Amino acid sequence: MGIYSDTRLKIPIQFDLETHCNLLLTGCSGSGKSYALLFLIGSVLKSNKEIEVYFCDFKNSLDFSFLEDYKYYYAGNNCYDGIIQYYKNFCLARENRDFTKKHLLICDEYPALVNYLQGQDKLNKTKYGNEILSAISELLCLGRGINFYTWIVTQRADNTLFTNGSRDNFMVIIGLGRLSKEQKGMVFSGEEVPDTIYQKGEGVLLADGHPLIEVKFPLIKNVDDWKRHILEILRSMPP
Ligand SMILES: Nc1ncnc2c1ncn2[C@@H]1O[C@H](COP(=O)(O)OP(=O)(O)OP(=O)(O)O)[C@@H](O)[C@H]1O
Ligand SMILES: [Mg+2]
Repeated sequence: MGIYSDTRLKIPIQFDLETHCNLLLTGCSGSGKSYALLFLIGSVLKSNKEIEVYFCDFKNSLDFSFLEDYKYYYAGNNCYDGIIQYYKNFCLARENRDFTKKHLLICDEYPALVNYLQGQDKLNKTKYGNEILSAISELLCLGRGINFYTWIVTQRADNTLFTNGSRDNFMVIIGLGRLSKEQKGMVFSGEEVPDTIYQKGEGVLLADGHPLIEVKFPLIKNVDDWKRHILEILRSMPP
């Protein structure tokens, strides 16, 4: 993935997907998370054309409506099915020791999904919320070695969303826009996060093996082209 590590010098930064496979993208509403996500998906697919992507878009936003006809695109309440299907694939791969293919699960607005499911669970005495929490926790803890990667996009990144301390398994954490003191303490604990007022698409990045740095996501020159390209690569993936 490539992002600018200095807003003036425009030094691109890159991480290997294999070693930095779990990503947490956080920031308040309007800080540029979904836009950054669009940039990251396009960048990753450029160099990893054979990755099977499951995309869960709880908000059902226009940003990702171009994926509507993609077979592993899940919107709104269907996100539950997307995560469970991905988790089942992961369990099967482990059972069969079949680690050849790369897989990526992306969840935009993850806490909103969990919150919704937990609300339904209270009404219907079901346990869908907990099922998702433990699936994500297991994926974060065990996915790396077997090529099952997880990207979570969230306004808040509370520990309760990542059970059994699984939040520690994000190798890349990006905080965009204005981060509250509480959020800084939670996701960047022990780090000196500058008091800078970040604009949309700007913030800080902490990756395994690197010090905390300030980053800025570049503007995508032609968004329609970018989206078309993403869809083409996803569609050309062998079954
Ligand atoms: N890197 C960027 N440079 C300039 N403008 C940006 C950048 N990223 C996002 N924006 C602008 O900010 C707006 C909000 O961005 P985006 O929808 O990605 O925010 P978000 O964090 O996903 O918000 P929400 O939590 O409400 O979904 C976008 O419509 C876009 O025009
Ligand atoms: Mg968004």
